[in-house]
Amino acid sequence: MKNLKKDLINKGWTIIKSEKINHIQKISSNFIKEIKTNSNLNKIITKYDLKNIEDMRKVANYLNDDTLNLIRKLYIKDCSFNILKSFSSNIKKIFGKKILVQKYPQIQVHIGYTNSTRTFPHSEIMAGHSPYTYNIWLPFHNVDNESGIFLIDDFTSVKLCDYEIDKKIKSREELLKKYQIFPKLKLGEALLFNPFVYHGSNYFKNKLARISVDVRFQKFSNPLFQKYNDFFTSYNI
Ligand SMILES: [Fe+2]
Repeated sequence: MKNLKKDLINKGWTIIKSEKINHIQKISSNFIKEIKTNSNLNKIITKYDLKNIEDMRKVANYLNDDTLNLIRKLYIKDCSFNILKSFSSNIKKIFGKKILVQKYPQIQVHIGYTNSTRTFPHSEIMAGHSPYTYNIWLPFHNVDNESGIFLIDDFTSVKLCDYEIDKKIKSREELLKKYQIFPKLKLGEALLFNPFVYHGSNYFKNKLARISVDVRFQKFSNPLFQKYNDFFTSYNI
């Protein structure tokens, strides 16, 4: 807990651990269930023997961009709440019990040996989030290669952003390359970062796709910015 606060103050991001691994497994099995029962997806998926997240990591390589986009458009009921609940002891102590949380999490399926599923480097501020909004990035499996996301500490991120504008830098990706940190995560761990932290994902070489969800939240008492109650809902942890 002490390290968590210290990390957030010093670099704007930290790794949080859930004491409830079975909760995370439940969230990922709900995700698989949703894919299998979705009317747009079940016809495409039915030819694969999809039982769990490890199967999905293999199957994802055979899916085209349209199908991957259908997966990203799934609305998984209670998923945001379940994520917050899985990390409640960490979150409650820093953000309090009353939270505003993104109604549905963002689903990411990042495939190896392709550029099409990469996330271009950005900070959440650039996406219209308030300075008080934090992001939880949760993979559904261990991440021990560079298939996850990279982060750059908030102070450096802001400096690099100013530099990019001042010097009219053409390639942000080139500029950020040497500052990228790829945290290794075990199942049950997630990244928590503030909206100033640059993040994104890169091309990677692995036959297993990376599957993750991310959810934004903030203290209920903090002001909103461009995202309102169409995006957030209130929740008591
Ligand atoms: Fe983001």
